[in-house]
Amino acid sequence: MVGGFYGDEGKGKIVAFHALRTKPEASVRAGVGPNAGHTVRHRGTVARLRLVPSSFVNPSTKLMIAPGVLVDENVLLKEIDELGVAQRLMVDRRSGLIEARHIERDKGDEHLAGKIGTTGTGTGPAMEDRVGRRLRLADQSEKLKPFLGDTVEELQKALEEGKTIVAEGTQGTFLSLYHGTYPYVTSKDVTASSVLADIGVGPKAAEQVIVVFKSFVTRVGNGPLENEIPKDEVEARGWVERGSVTGRLRRAAPFDFELARRAVKLNGATALAITKLDALFSGAAGITHFEKLPKEARDFIRKVEDETGVPVLYAGTGEEVLDTIVVPH
Ligand code: IMP
Ligand code: MG
Repeated sequence: MVGGFYGDEGKGKIVAFHALRTKPEASVRAGVGPNAGHTVRHRGTVARLRLVPSSFVNPSTKLMIAPGVLVDENVLLKEIDELGVAQRLMVDRRSGLIEARHIERDKGDEHLAGKIGTTGTGTGPAMEDRVGRRLRLADQSEKLKPFLGDTVEELQKALEEGKTIVAEGTQGTFLSLYHGTYPYVTSKDVTASSVLADIGVGPKAAEQVIVVFKSFVTRVGNGPLENEIPKDEVEARGWVERGSVTGRLRRAAPFDFELARRAVKLNGATALAITKLDALFSGAAGITHFEKLPKEARDFIRKVEDETGVPVLYAGTGEEVLDTIVVPH
């Protein structure tokens, strides 16, 4: 599962719905690190996740953090505690450790904090140290000791037994270090191929690649945003959002079919999800059956399918995880 625009497409919610529906054996967090913020509202509670997989909502799913990911011990331990998932969470020994000095550098650096507008969570500087071969890995952490293991072996075993796993990416395709709007990007590639590399399975293991889009495009931090809408117009349309990690106001633009087509190709998408239909179409809020959607919303979904050549599997109509339609084909 990956994001198709600039992050904040609603991956957390879609992953959570997918996990409740398919009950995967395991779900593994890929991507960069705690610069991500995934919000999952379910059964009257709100979970704001930065490292724990959003599939936690399905109680039988084992939770893992992949070798490719950077871990902030404090962020992770707090989340594990709040969610009560200690018994089913494993952190790979080879995942990287973000330290206080990385966060200081991220926040204090004129280039990163000023020009790029990073999240200040230390991921970029920790990636620099990882590439420089001077980063401490999770197996050197005392605090994470009870959670350490070999997630790759666990996942490979599950796959051999024919079980389903869900890999959760972070950010969005156009924040990719390689395929995004460089230099206004995050510190690694975040497309589906990298998600597989992060978790340690080969490309042929992926049965499905789900790319998540939102009904409009948002971007936090600096960098180009095609057809950006002025702030007052964003408010008038009811598209106001704030970054879940940084609290910054998100910039917004209408759904971009050209970007969507490119994201589909870059990720090898086999299915799509479109979130927040309720922000675009009055009468869509809370609908859980495709036929009950307003006609314009149904037409929009079919148009996205026509323009990208990929079926839309899920459509989101509200903030709660179960405010989701499984689109018939
Ligand atoms: P960094 O990932 O903190 O280095 O930030 C680099 C760029 O990616 C900045 O524009 C951030 O706002 C953006 N970014 C990083 N993570 C996310 C996310 O989870 N959602 C949206 N934007 C993000
Ligand atoms: Mg987010």
